[in-house]
Amino acid sequence: MAWIRLAKSSELPPGALIEVEHQGRYIALCNTDGQVRAVDGTCPHQGGPLGEGALNGEFITCPWHMWDFHSGTGACSFNDKVRVAVYPVRVEGGAVLADLPNA
Ligand code: FES
Repeated sequence: MAWIRLAKSSELPPGALIEVEHQGRYIALCNTDGQVRAVDGTCPHQGGPLGEGALNGEFITCPWHMWDFHSGTGACSFNDKVRVAVYPVRVEGGAVLADLPNA
């Protein structure tokens, strides 16, 4: 695990969802009611880009086939055995950092 700077906090106002890339990995960052969260950016269904989807409340909706994943737990809204990884986030000095495994 390593804390990696992924974005400026100004890129993530409340309600924002963005995709970032780190060493070939895609991460979806969102701001849910002031809380910045990071999840794996590749949809476990067929690889859709979650960071290019939509943030609906606490859920990220994949743009390809509309599966929803909870931004805090990574669980799929209709099958909690299907999950995306969630990563710890820190916001400091105007930067958003996530603790990524194997980074
Ligand atoms: S690839 Fe995400 S819902 Fe199908």
